[in-house]
Amino acid sequence: MSRSAHPAGPRHADVLPEGHYTAPPTDLNALDGKVWAATVTRNSDGVVTVGGIEVTRLAEEFGTPAYFLDETDFRARCRAWADAFGKDADVFYAGKAFLSRAIVRWLKEEGLNLDVCSGGELATALDAGMPAERIAFHGNNKSEREIRRAIEAGVGRIVLDSFQEIVRVAHIAQELGKRQKVQIRVTVGVEAHTHEFIATAHEDQKFGIALAGGQAAEAVRRALRLEGLELIGIHSHIGSQIFDMAGFEVSARRVVQLLAEVRDEHGVELPEIDLGGGLGIAYTSEDDPREPHEIAKALTEIVTRECESANLRTPRISVEPGRAIVGPTAFTLYEVGTVKPLEGLRTYVSVDGGMSDNIRTALYDAEYSVALVSRTSEAAPMLSRVVGKHCESGDIVVKDAFLPADVAPGDLIAVPATGAYCRSMASNYNHALRPPVVAVADGAARVIVRRETEEDLLRLDVG
Ligand code: LLP
Repeated sequence: MSRSAHPAGPRHADVLPEGHYTAPPTDLNALDGKVWAATVTRNSDGVVTVGGIEVTRLAEEFGTPAYFLDETDFRARCRAWADAFGKDADVFYAGKAFLSRAIVRWLKEEGLNLDVCSGGELATALDAGMPAERIAFHGNNKSEREIRRAIEAGVGRIVLDSFQEIVRVAHIAQELGKRQKVQIRVTVGVEAHTHEFIATAHEDQKFGIALAGGQAAEAVRRALRLEGLELIGIHSHIGSQIFDMAGFEVSARRVVQLLAEVRDEHGVELPEIDLGGGLGIAYTSEDDPREPHEIAKALTEIVTRECESANLRTPRISVEPGRAIVGPTAFTLYEVGTVKPLEGLRTYVSVDGGMSDNIRTALYDAEYSVALVSRTSEAAPMLSRVVGKHCESGDIVVKDAFLPADVAPGDLIAVPATGAYCRSMASNYNHALRPPVVAVADGAARVIVRRETEEDLLRLDVG
């Protein structure tokens, strides 16, 4: 992830400190299609538009900070994933990346399934009419209430994450007179090349049941014995923001090996494997994500090859992309409030949001891009740090980026690729009001999640 300091360059560059940046871009007004949603462009007046609407108009109508989500791009990405995997595989959108009723409806219309990981996500999915059989229920500590709700609703699968849960789900299903389809989530021992906090398939962490030491094989033994469960497959998720397919290759190989062991021991060929999500997106021009069809081809080939060599029928594959679908489709629009040049260091550009609408920089040292979007500028590139309005110095949105040196209070700047894990991880820190999500398509914009109000905050405060 780390980029090296730029050795020399125009204005300010001779005093550039060490940091995560490369050379200033040659044209600060250009918008790299890799990091911006598909319909984002700059019009002849120099104003950035999405879905044909100027950000200046959007800011006037919906205020800032706000997330603007390109619905056309979202739907196209859903279709690209569904088409890439075809009818012999299933794509489950990971709702944790961002979920709302509108998103559920779009997923339903575009033929995707949905992975939920809490009672709240399940409630949203059901409320917006996702057919229960197209929902997978995840989580390492689902409550009995959540499990009951999921089984009663008739979810297509529950992904079991522990020995206790195997028994818990079986009991509740039996009590309800049902046989619940389940998968067992295993940890395959892969250290995905990503930030430590979001790599999940190495063994020293809370998710899944380890293949190592025969734990997963024992989980299968127990699940097969319980009346309330129909074991349909094995699940593995190795981490997030991954570009390298090697981790998936090892994961698929180890999962198939378990399927072969299960066949040998029980005479049962489990019909499905789920390889999870985790595919990376471009946050900056440095990132080179893969297209869904490349990913589908690679995963299908790996699984088919491994199954052939283990003499197994190829199971139905499912995947759970979250970030790769919604991440690139949205940007956060901010208004600049103050500009503070620190001689020999960088310029701090404060915006009207911050770590309450994007915690990823503070939490994962994530990298983002930023652009001046309300106008063009011919000013020289200025090494900037985009910071929020919260009461701590770690409140950073974009750590190192170049903005034009004439950026000033009242300008609108936008941070692209904030569709995933930004609104969904937003907080009320400092009693900030969480921003709205506005869907834009074909010249029309509509709020799909409204801005919080002070009344919302005070309504919860009943002391
Ligand atoms: N499936 C399972 C079982 C997962 O745990 C996750 C993400 C996904 C699918 C979707 O992964 P994606 O394709 O979106 O990478 N807050 C972190 C990411 C946490 C991901 C947790 N699980 C971030 O902002 O980077």
